Amino acid sequence: MTTGRIKKVAGPLVVATGLPAAQMYELVRVGELGLVGEIIEMRGSEASIQVYEETQGLAPGQPVEPTGQPLSVELGPGLLASVYDGMQRPLAALRDAAGAFLSRGLSSPGLSREALWDFKPSVGVGAWVNAGSIIGTVREHEVFEHRIMVPPGLSGTIASITGGWHHVDDVVATLQSRDGSVHELTLLQRWPVRTARPYRERKLATEPLITGTRVIDSFFPLLKGGVACIPGPFGAGKTVTQHQIAKWANAQVVIFIGCGERGNEMTDVLREFPELTDPATGRPLLQRTVLIANTSNMPVAAREASVYTGITIAEYFRDMGYEVVLQADSTSRWAEAMREISGRLEEMPGEEGYPAYLGSRLAAFYERAGVVQCLSTEYPDPSTREAAARAAALKTPGADAYCDCRTGSVSVVGSVSPPGGDLSEPVVQNTLRVVKVFWALQDTLAFQRHFPAIDWIGSYSLYLDRLEPWWAEHVAGDYRQLRDRAAGILAREQELTEIVRLVGMDALSPAEQASMDCARMIREDFLQQNAFRDDDQFSSLTKQACLLRLILDFHDRILAALDAGAELADFDGLAVRDALARAKYLADDDSTAFSDLAAAIAAAVPLNETDGAHTPPIDARTETAQVGEGV
Ligand SMILES: Nc1ncnc2c1ncn2[C@@H]1O[C@H](COP(=O)(O)OP(=O)(O)OP(=O)(O)O)[C@@H](O)[C@H]1O
Ligand SMILES: [Mg+2]
Repeated sequence: MTTGRIKKVAGPLVVATGLPAAQMYELVRVGELGLVGEIIEMRGSEASIQVYEETQGLAPGQPVEPTGQPLSVELGPGLLASVYDGMQRPLAALRDAAGAFLSRGLSSPGLSREALWDFKPSVGVGAWVNAGSIIGTVREHEVFEHRIMVPPGLSGTIASITGGWHHVDDVVATLQSRDGSVHELTLLQRWPVRTARPYRERKLATEPLITGTRVIDSFFPLLKGGVACIPGPFGAGKTVTQHQIAKWANAQVVIFIGCGERGNEMTDVLREFPELTDPATGRPLLQRTVLIANTSNMPVAAREASVYTGITIAEYFRDMGYEVVLQADSTSRWAEAMREISGRLEEMPGEEGYPAYLGSRLAAFYERAGVVQCLSTEYPDPSTREAAARAAALKTPGADAYCDCRTGSVSVVGSVSPPGGDLSEPVVQNTLRVVKVFWALQDTLAFQRHFPAIDWIGSYSLYLDRLEPWWAEHVAGDYRQLRDRAAGILAREQELTEIVRLVGMDALSPAEQASMDCARMIREDFLQQNAFRDDDQFSSLTKQACLLRLILDFHDRILAALDAGAELADFDGLAVRDALARAKYLADDDSTAFSDLAAAIAAAVPLNETDGAHTPPIDARTETAQVGEGV
């Protein structure tokens, strides 16, 4: 391959000549230091290269080496608990190589070449395998089963396979294709980051991604495989909300991309996650997490690489059949990087200087989320030994006898930091076109210390109808109704507040005043949730339904009493109000406390003279259901 020469350096963009054979998105090594760059425009033999490292010191005439490869990530055991930069270089390895300050031009493999993994084959010699077939497993951090798959594009019969301790690049199996060619399989595979990894088919997402944050789960829920955006002005709580999801979401793998945000936010993750335990496994949370840190002090162009690297790693875990949640904080910083590069390329600017392709880039990123049926073994010939054995075992003649089916999902939550909190700006607007869930953070709420500052009027989730059957089956038959009523009361509060502002509280009927009172309780006793209180940061869905049911029951009783001639003031200082306000701190499974509270409410505001008995607030069916169960 011919070596090119730098012609011009403009910030992160380098123009090089003498690269006639170079390809779009080919990785190149730029300058004497061999900085990593990617070709983003070709004009004849002249290439425009975005350089993922600081470009100081580069000068015209210095060499540019093509590599013949696109920007790719290494996928295999060792990903979990890693902290990478945007190009999947482990930060620890870079630090060891260079001291406290990252130096440039270093290359360090994404996966350690020294680590040994105990490979347990799950197929034998002669087995038919194709892209996505699992040939064996290794244990990562003792509990996580890392499934070793045949990379996309290969199929054939296993010619040899060796279990035991291996490095990621050792050959663990060989595969003989139909044409007789033999391919070596390692624990590691590579994948170009800009290309979505293949799957068999997309499936409809139907299960919730449970986050334990009440305003999200009950009001604006996200699905496993769904996409959400969380826009908010400076300091409104984007990062805290995303950290909460990373900590609590019922996903098996979490990818966190710190894209262009302050370094201390990443430090918080690094400090906290090893100490926190994953509720599902009891292991440090970091062991199910991959962190990609591309903080504000790191090169701008690498933000794009970090986003693609993250989503590719997410897809890889999805392909194993896992539920993955990816968080990008913040996509605005990536968009700003696009704007900078596009400006330097002298492209025609679109809205507010962002490139015209901003929308399609964001869409292409979010579209890599979803629930999929993964690639897995498909027995092409029903007469093969395995297919016959499987068909016999399943006793159901049909397509499934000829494939191993598994599903996986990637859910994506992207934060957006619009300047001044302006939701009409291009990054928010283009993101809204593709996401189905919108958690709008309001600085006014944050100023009032109402956290999470998610605006209950402006936010939405388009997944409610799809979730309703799941809720009815796994949480409570009336959960959707409870949620809709509570949301309705909050919407009504907004209208009534307008009236109160104009003509005063006295203009409202007692029932309307009671509704205002109920709205306040929903806001304070349900929606407000302190991410830093151990007894408040996570609520199971059962508890969320239960809290709503208690608040609404209290409200209904007051309405009935008002109808029967009582005065609103009669219910002002009830002790049960305090108990209701503290109910969110009760343990999720403390059904006795919840039943007692329901009884106390019934006693404080009886429906009629004979109303001694109360209805237990927890649906009998759900009493034993724990969060995440049946998922
Ligand atoms: N759920 C919550 N519970 C308690 N406090 C919260 C919560 N959410 C946010 N906060 C408070 O708000 C502060 C700012 O939150 P955060 O850092 O998440 O904002 P941000 O939107 O990411 O800001 P930036 O735009 O600067 O990145 C936090 O340090 C915390 O004090
Ligand atoms: Mg932040």
